[in-house]
Amino acid sequence: MNANTPVLHITGLTKHYGGVKALTDAHFQLLPGEHVAIVGDNGAGKSTFVRLITGVEQPNAGEIVLSGRTVSFDSPLDAREQGIETVYQTLALAEDLDVPANIFLGRELTRLNLGPLSVLNHKAMRERSASMLATTGVKIQDMSESLRGMSGGQRQCVAIARAAGFAKNLIILDEPTAALGVAETARVEAIIQGLKARGVPLIIISHNLRQVFDLVDRIFVFRQGRIICNRLTRQTNPEEIVGLITGAIDPATLSTETEAAPC
Ligand SMILES: Nc1ncnc2c1ncn2[C@@H]1O[C@H](COP(=O)(O)OP(=O)(O)OP(=O)(O)O)[C@@H](O)[C@H]1O
Ligand SMILES: [Mg+2]
Repeated sequence: MNANTPVLHITGLTKHYGGVKALTDAHFQLLPGEHVAIVGDNGAGKSTFVRLITGVEQPNAGEIVLSGRTVSFDSPLDAREQGIETVYQTLALAEDLDVPANIFLGRELTRLNLGPLSVLNHKAMRERSASMLATTGVKIQDMSESLRGMSGGQRQCVAIARAAGFAKNLIILDEPTAALGVAETARVEAIIQGLKARGVPLIIISHNLRQVFDLVDRIFVFRQGRIICNRLTRQTNPEEIVGLITGAIDPATLSTETEAAPC
């Protein structure tokens, strides 16, 4: 493995639900430090792709190579343990727990490790949570309050801070700002830019092309369960991407000058 070894190299990834071909023969590559977007119409297979590469579901076919090593994730925890952090389209936070408990959900810090009788280290979790939120610039007034009283945006920021804080290899955000207001969206975008500066590779799914063009290096277009092409952001434009998403533009007609990854 060298500095140019892709963080993620996916070939032939396929998932069919009975007769529904959610994803067919997907090829995808993410380079070190790269931020890429996944775009496509509703039902194009974007979330299915994310579920397959994060162990939520198992593919029918295909290979996933993470930093030069072929992997297969049995569960989301398995993917997390290998450094892939994901914020899913449907948020997975516990409403009744406070911020530190949510951040450390499933990987609680302990003072005494006695299996089910372990003693949790609340102080360490509070301190680490505060520093994770600080790194991402997220401001939460009172961390000991349950999430129930927080806005959608604040919750989303907690989820993203959690992912950003733990991500070792890669972070995946499935429509992180779809339900957010203008200020909260800007906050999340600033977090993403901070991850870029730290060199953490990222995949973002977004229907917001302004956001996509502002944030990422490369755009992968999904259409009817296939990845039909990828374009370097600086070599394309929103009109072209819309044409690819809707089918008005045939990817085969695009210039091949782009340094596109094999796809
Ligand atoms: N568990 C499932 N069982 C059956 N069909 C499914 C299942 N999950 C997804 N599908 C189908 O697979 C296709 C792709 O769905 P997916 O959720 O990946 O789309 P998407 O690109 O994420 O769309 P959106 O932009 O609306 O989030 C859709 O036709 C969907 O109905
Ligand atoms: Mg989706």
